[in-house]
Amino acid sequence: MRILITGGDGQLGTALQQTLSDHTLYLVDLPDIDITKRQIISKYVQGVQPEIVIHCAAYTDVDGCARNPALAYEVNGLGTQNVALACQEAGSIMVHLSTNEIFAGNSFRGYEEWMAPDPINPYGHSKAAAEAFVKALVPRFYIVRTAWLYAPGGRNFIHAILERARNTGEVKVVADEIGNPTYVRDLSEAIGKLITTGQFGIYHLVNEGTCSRWEFANEILNIAGLTDTLNLPILSRQYKRASKPPLYSSLLNITGRSIGITLCPWQEALNRFMTDHILH
Ligand SMILES: NC(=O)c1ccc[n+]([C@@H]2O[C@H](COP(=O)([O-])OP(=O)(O)OC[C@H]3O[C@@H](n4cnc5c(N)ncnc54)[C@H](OP(=O)(O)O)[C@@H]3O)[C@@H](O)[C@H]2O)c1
Repeated sequence: MRILITGGDGQLGTALQQTLSDHTLYLVDLPDIDITKRQIISKYVQGVQPEIVIHCAAYTDVDGCARNPALAYEVNGLGTQNVALACQEAGSIMVHLSTNEIFAGNSFRGYEEWMAPDPINPYGHSKAAAEAFVKALVPRFYIVRTAWLYAPGGRNFIHAILERARNTGEVKVVADEIGNPTYVRDLSEAIGKLITTGQFGIYHLVNEGTCSRWEFANEILNIAGLTDTLNLPILSRQYKRASKPPLYSSLLNITGRSIGITLCPWQEALNRFMTDHILH
């Protein structure tokens, strides 16, 4: 198949390049193609005529979005509208990547796919706007919501915890923010399966299980053998940041499971990631 990936050089885009390497891939990313430029993205998609567009490009710096909501809306909201319109014109299926942050984070039993978005921060608002554009403009779409991604190479939570533990012997980690750590490799494989189903709709694709940031850090330290590190739990209100995160935004994978698409437990994925990319 001809598959176009926006944000092709990002964490998930890079994993998708490997997972979908049997297909003919076209990559869109800055600085060459900017999704906020409607004519440019439209012309490119018309030229490529992809069967599927996987839309990963986004302004993903959540605190940056809080400091500059207009930019968040321009890239995540209007940029997605441009990609959706281009899919409509070319008759392409669209896979849109969304986030747990479209929810307020007050559902203690977790969020099912059909629950209504109710974002509480500018990143979440911009991504909720993006979902609305996709639903309104593209006849055949998959919306894939995911959370707490980590990938080889990138700067992420795992690297930050390990660095601080090695340098100071102590970490302070938020214990009241609950979510789903998810390995981009597992997510890319699940997306690879999903696009073969033709079962369009909304999916929550995350590694199975849920934990707090503090528990996530604990598991990282255990796997790395840094068990002497003092791992101090703190409350999110003690951790000053520009954005207000949804505190309990655990995603439940109901629709994916119903068609046989699940990801392994988060501890197993983390173990595999660290063995392959951190501890060798
Ligand atoms: N990371 C997470 O924890 C997480 C959690 C839930 C959902 N998601 C969603 O999953 C998707 C993929 O996330 P990711 O972690 O792979 O993101 P990422 O690593 O930040 O990659 C996003 C890519 O999009 C590019 N981009 C930004 N603005 C663009 C524009 N105007 N035009 C074209 N490309 C642009 C970025 O380029 P630059 O690097 O040059 O800016 C980057 O290469 C996103 O839609 C995100 O909202 C992510």
